[in-house]
Amino acid sequence: MNLNELIGRKEAKVAIIGMGYVGLPHALEIANAGMNVIGLDIQQKRVEALNRGESYIQDVKDGDLKKIIEAEKFTASIDFASLKNADVIIICVPTPLDKYKIPDISYIQNSAREIKKYLRPGQLIVLESTTYPGTTDEVLLPMFEEGELKCGQDFYLAFAPERIDPGNTMPLNEVPKVVGGITPECTKLAALFYSQFLKHVHPVSSARAAEMTKILENTYRLINISAINELALLCGKMDIDIWEVIEAAKTKPYGFQAFYPSPKVGGHCIPLDPFYLSWKAKEYNFWLRFIELAGEINEQMPHNVVAKTGFALNRAGKPLNGSKILIWGVAYKRDINDPREGGAADIIANLLRKGAKVDYFDPHISEFSVPAGNYMLKNGHPVALRSLAEGIGAAEDYDAVVILTDHSGFDYEKLAENAKLVIDTRNAVKSRNHKNVFRF
Ligand SMILES: NC(=O)c1ccc[n+]([C@@H]2O[C@H](COP(=O)([O-])OP(=O)(O)OC[C@H]3O[C@@H](n4cnc5c(N)ncnc54)[C@H](O)[C@@H]3O)[C@@H](O)[C@H]2O)c1
Repeated sequence: MNLNELIGRKEAKVAIIGMGYVGLPHALEIANAGMNVIGLDIQQKRVEALNRGESYIQDVKDGDLKKIIEAEKFTASIDFASLKNADVIIICVPTPLDKYKIPDISYIQNSAREIKKYLRPGQLIVLESTTYPGTTDEVLLPMFEEGELKCGQDFYLAFAPERIDPGNTMPLNEVPKVVGGITPECTKLAALFYSQFLKHVHPVSSARAAEMTKILENTYRLINISAINELALLCGKMDIDIWEVIEAAKTKPYGFQAFYPSPKVGGHCIPLDPFYLSWKAKEYNFWLRFIELAGEINEQMPHNVVAKTGFALNRAGKPLNGSKILIWGVAYKRDINDPREGGAADIIANLLRKGAKVDYFDPHISEFSVPAGNYMLKNGHPVALRSLAEGIGAAEDYDAVVILTDHSGFDYEKLAENAKLVIDTRNAVKSRNHKNVFRF
């Protein structure tokens, strides 16, 4: 049976490389559609947990994972030799920036080296990790074509960006998928594959166009959130309530989309992906100034939060040095357990450096550490913290509570009543009659 038929009959065997926030929910979706999935990862512990039916991703429930294991539709493994039996291989590995904000595509390259060892005619490989335009045809294609096999004829290669939004309850199969192959045949096969379990597939003319689409989406968010953060800082100085202004602007029926202030744009995507593009642009003697400016504003936001905290304490006659601060939420957004790239690490490091005593409360993240590499840590040692078991009751023991994440299920009016001072970066406290609440 050829690949077309295998996919069309849902008999294609699928391997997903990288069992993280993207790969694991994907595995569930594809297995539930009836295909056999093998999840490959380099972390033995993750693989063992998955095979016991234990999910470490909040949006994937243990029960749902157990169902696909019992139906013999899913197994996890660290053995890449199983790639030789796979008809479709999806790459969902991390794409971070190094400390100089340079793209680190080594995870993609490592995955590609494994694929290359087992590459055979009739395989479709799809890269889903967010990356700069050109990664699929300039990095992956030459690696896979080093041997005898030709792309579009023997094997097929495409890029299909992932749009997963952790914490969002929209079913994954309702999120349209953009697909761009190296050749028209690659695009056709990749589109056929995704249409087996997704409602909408949007083919584009090339892998590069698909790569650029993802970066456009995230650049749009980074720039707009950074712009509203800058306006929020100005509004703070002008004694204008930015939150009231956004609500008013939202009444315009066209031409305005609301973005909200935050202590920093977080997550593994929005603050990073645009810099993949600004790095690549320099190859064309092109400087992406909007992205660089947005990044600069974003990186400064945690310092603005610390400055506001110092200002509020000062009003109460206290210095930051020696004050007890409770950080409320270290996740980068509401109701999720992912702290990556959020403002908490920089804010905590900066407060500690200024002599404050810091604890945190986050119902979704029981342990949190400021990594050793954080440039604000004087001695270079990491700082490991544990969440308080309870937040609202503990608030009165602190000189200030800094709300970084507005997790739902809490009475923020009560928090404002209990706390001596609140620095609210999320507009969690809705009423405006608390004199002890400071916003941007
Ligand atoms: N997290 C999101 O919300 C999101 C949304 C859209 C797109 N993305 C993109 O998807 C990609 C993956 O992100 P993520 O959040 O799932 O990352 P993650 O860190 O949650 O998971 C990545 C997994 O890949 C594994 N891994 C690393 N190298 C490997 C290798 N060589 N072989 C096998 N496994 C390997 C890691 O052990 C980890 O389990 C990134 O490019 C990211 O930008 C993420």
